Amino acid sequence: MKILIIGGNGTIGKKVSERFSENHDVIIAGRTSGDVTVDISNVQSISEMLQKVGNVNAIVNIAGDAKWDKFDHLSEEDFYIGIKSKLMGQVNLVRLGRKYLKPEGSITLTTGILADEPVDMTTSAAMVNGAVQSFVKAVALEMDNGLRVNVVSADLVEDAYEKYKDYFPGNTPVSMRKVVDGYVKCVEGRINGKIVRIRA
Ligand SMILES: NC(=O)c1ccc[n+]([C@@H]2O[C@H](COP(=O)([O-])OP(=O)(O)OC[C@H]3O[C@@H](n4cnc5c(N)ncnc54)[C@H](OP(=O)(O)O)[C@@H]3O)[C@@H](O)[C@H]2O)c1
Repeated sequence: MKILIIGGNGTIGKKVSERFSENHDVIIAGRTSGDVTVDISNVQSISEMLQKVGNVNAIVNIAGDAKWDKFDHLSEEDFYIGIKSKLMGQVNLVRLGRKYLKPEGSITLTTGILADEPVDMTTSAAMVNGAVQSFVKAVALEMDNGLRVNVVSADLVEDAYEKYKDYFPGNTPVSMRKVVDGYVKCVEGRINGKIVRIRA
């Protein structure tokens, strides 16, 4: 398969890219690095990336930001960071990306545990994660040509544990093997409209 992985050089993305590279032709996209660059918060940039890459069997997105802060400190503009990046970035990848998918192709998005179990300072991040998950369940009903859309929602991952552990007291990190397997299930399996929850 030809697989486009956006965020494929990130903490999670590089492990996912390594696994898919064993059996597939992987193209990595990132904001500053990769075979092609893209800013998913900009629809024109997504469109240009897709034109450069051409038709693929699968698109996997493992990128997207949202602002973390106390609810009291978040301005309306702060909320739009997550809405433009993690939410509409992923919605636009499905809107535009499906036209570049070969029959039976798939798009796999990324959320995280915050949709189900938010922690302090995540009103924005939790909100967009939840919205992406509802979007995936709905859009999967309207796919044709055997196309599929799923989302992987991991708990704090092993490789990011030191960086984020203070924000997630008591969360047991999930192994990178388990996280990567979630993406493999979405791309190589036949599931559609699923939230693949990865927990320790
Ligand atoms: N870390 C965790 O424990 C965890 C758990 C569950 C879910 N998640 C979610 O998984 C995703 C990836 O997390 P991570 O820890 O792997 O992040 P990371 O290490 O910061 O990597 C993010 C990757 O995405 C790219 N990227 C960032 N913003 C982008 C944009 N606007 N357009 C295109 N590419 C962009 C970056 O490219 P450049 O390096 O070129 O800038 C980088 O390769 C995030 O949405 C995160 O919320 C993370």
